[in-house]
Amino acid sequence: MSQPAETAAALDPGLLLKASEIAREAGARLREFYAQGVATEYKGDVDLVTVADRTVEKLIRTRLGEAFPAHGVYGEEGTRERMDGEFRWYVDPLDGTTNFAHGFPQFCVSLGLEHRPAGLAPDQDGTLIAAVLYDPLRDELFTAQRAGGARLNGKTIRVSRTHHLAEALLATGFPSRKRHSSPNIHFYQELTLRSHGVRRAGSAALDLAYVACGRLDAFWEFNLNPWDTAAGILLIEEAGGRITNFAGHPFRLDSREVLASNALLHEELIAIFADMFAGRNLAPIPTPQEYARQREKQGIGSRE
Ligand code: IPD
Ligand code: CA
Ligand code: CA
Repeated sequence: MSQPAETAAALDPGLLLKASEIAREAGARLREFYAQGVATEYKGDVDLVTVADRTVEKLIRTRLGEAFPAHGVYGEEGTRERMDGEFRWYVDPLDGTTNFAHGFPQFCVSLGLEHRPAGLAPDQDGTLIAAVLYDPLRDELFTAQRAGGARLNGKTIRVSRTHHLAEALLATGFPSRKRHSSPNIHFYQELTLRSHGVRRAGSAALDLAYVACGRLDAFWEFNLNPWDTAAGILLIEEAGGRITNFAGHPFRLDSREVLASNALLHEELIAIFADMFAGRNLAPIPTPQEYARQREKQGIGSRE
C-alpha cells in the first residue's frame, strides 16, 4: 500500500468516532441475532450466509451513507456504492459467519477506509487510512488511523516482541470455497511443528487484530478478500507489524495472500514459505498407514 503523508492529515478527527459508533451499532445487531439463533444458507461449497450478514451489511451501508455521503462502500454481501469515489470503505458485516452460525463465540464487524486519490487506476491500491473492528461478544473495539497508532478500547496496542518462530503462537484460516484446491493444510502442518502452535479460530479479521495487539505473533491465509483484510492490515501496520504476500512483496488489497507478523518473525516466515513452495526442509511425520503399522505392532487400539 502506498502511504502519501498528506492523507493522515486529511482525515477528519471525528471520522474514527463516527465509524466506531456504526461498528458498535452493527455489533449490537449481531449480538441480538446470535442470541435468537438464525437459519443458514449456502453461498457455495461450505460458504455460509445468514440473515444477520445481510441485515447488518444493509445497516452499515445506510449509516456510512448518512455519515459520509461522498464515500464509496464495498461490502462482502454485494454492496458496491460510489466505487469511483476518493474514499472507499471495505465492509465485512460479519467476519466469522461459520462460527456465528454454530454458536462459536468468535466473530466481528470489520470496516477499513481507503483513500484513493484522483487518477488512481481501478486496479491500483490507494492508502488505508482508518480501521474499525468490533468484537461484540467481548466488547472489544480495535481502531487505527494512518500515522495515529492502533488502539484497543482506547488504549494503544503494539505487536508482540517474540523473536523466534519456535516460541511463537500463530494463526491461519482455510477457504470455504474450492477447498480441494488449497494447499494450506501442508503449511498448517509444517508451521505447527515449528512453533508453539497454529490457531484456526475462524475470523481472519480478528486474527489480524490479535496480531496487532500481540495475542498472536503471526497470521497467514490464502485467498482472502479486501473486506477481510482492510481493517486488520492498518491495525497491524500502526501497531508496528509487517504485512506482505508470501514472497515478501508489498501487500495489496487484491493480493489474496496475506502474511502478517510482528515484523521480527517476518524474514523467518518468508524463508519457510519459500522452502515449502520448493519442497525443501520439510519436517517428516508418519502417514496414517505408517502409523497404523506401528500401532498394530504395539497392539494399540486392539485392547478394549
Ligand atoms: C471467513 C473468515 C475465516 C476465513 C475465511 C473467510 P466470513 O470470512 O474470515 O476465518 O478463513 O477465508 O472467508 O465468510 O466468515 O466473512
Ligand atoms: Ca470475512
Ligand atoms: Ca462476512
